[in-house]
Amino acid sequence: MAKLRVGLLFGGCSGEHEVSIRSAQAIARGLSDPANADRYELAPVYIQKDGRWLAGETAIGVLAAGVPLELGGVDAPAEASGETASETTALQAPNVAAVDRWQSTAQVGGVDVWFPILHGPNGEDGTVQGMLTLMQAPFVGSGVLGSALGMDKIAMKMAFAQAGLSQVDYKVVRRSQVYSNPCIFPKLCDEIEADLGYPCFVKPANLGSSVGIAKARTRAQLEAALDSAASYDRRLIVEAAVPAPREVECAVLGNDNPQASVVGEITYKSDFYDYETKYTEGLADLHIPANLPEAIARQIQEMSVRAFEAVDAAGLARVDFFYCESTGEVFINEINTMPGFTATSMYPMLWAASGVPFPELVDRLVKLALEER
Ligand SMILES: Nc1ncnc2c1ncn2[C@@H]1O[C@H](COP(=O)(O)OP(=O)(O)OP(=O)(O)O)[C@@H](O)[C@H]1O
Ligand SMILES: [Mg+2]
Repeated sequence: MAKLRVGLLFGGCSGEHEVSIRSAQAIARGLSDPANADRYELAPVYIQKDGRWLAGETAIGVLAAGVPLELGGVDAPAEASGETASETTALQAPNVAAVDRWQSTAQVGGVDVWFPILHGPNGEDGTVQGMLTLMQAPFVGSGVLGSALGMDKIAMKMAFAQAGLSQVDYKVVRRSQVYSNPCIFPKLCDEIEADLGYPCFVKPANLGSSVGIAKARTRAQLEAALDSAASYDRRLIVEAAVPAPREVECAVLGNDNPQASVVGEITYKSDFYDYETKYTEGLADLHIPANLPEAIARQIQEMSVRAFEAVDAAGLARVDFFYCESTGEVFINEINTMPGFTATSMYPMLWAASGVPFPELVDRLVKLALEER
């Protein structure tokens, strides 16, 4: 049987570039596992932070090294880390080093299915998915609509509300209101105080990784948080804070018949799950499965599938919730349509604990991509 050629698209122009490389390493290992090795061959394509696409030996080298390529360094050796590419995976290098981003999918050639393991803006938001759709190339994960809805916190909340999913009270704010004349801005803050109170969370609508997010407890903090978030995005969201939330997450897998995994929990000591806590080793702990009442775990699984359907997701998604133990309330926070996929990420670990080991998970995702399109 001929092997399927999987185009592994990784790196990307977002703050989650480094995570994407580590996710791609794990997926490459999964697709090269003995269980899959006779089914797949890999064609990695690395998107540099400046948006340039690099294939062939260069991409293989970045995958082996596990660290971003210096900008401008197109023809870095594959052995950059001292590790050879062949040790990492059974990689098949297309004979292209640097490719123009608009021609790249055609030039890499012979790819049967794409695995765009790109997190955040310019990768998880429908942009790459639109390009692959235009190329008529099958790819893993959600299409344009699901990816765009999953990225934009305002559009996502509208879709969740329509599906009857419970979420915290929130208010949409435009940058122009924040940067407005001194009459409008105080009125905006008055309204936020009256409608949501303190503490509240101020977030750019489109970023991820907790970048630009701040918790405000006073008027001065609210003003500073709005000003800071407005520097990242034209559209902002302010949310009422859930008191002492337990942060629980559920993984979804499938297309028309999505299944939910066991539920996991993240604990940490910081005030909230901010950027530093997310990306500093040892500051957060995962608990799988989460120690929850059975009815709450079931409710979270059921809400995860509804959220998946509400945004028209496909293939995979991780759905994040706040569980308020004192009241028993569950609030949906967000859906991530291309969740972190490193060997120690919540998404694959939830599936491993649900009876789907990593190699089987990536195999199923590729099959779902082919089935979807
Ligand atoms: N309404 C809220 N109540 C309590 N805590 C919140 C609230 N909103 C956000 N937080 C805290 O801030 C963290 C980051 O917020 P959120 O998940 O909305 O953004 P994000 O993590 O940047 O998005 P992404 O997961 O797509 O990267 C949450 O994990 C949680 O710790
Ligand atoms: Mg989050």
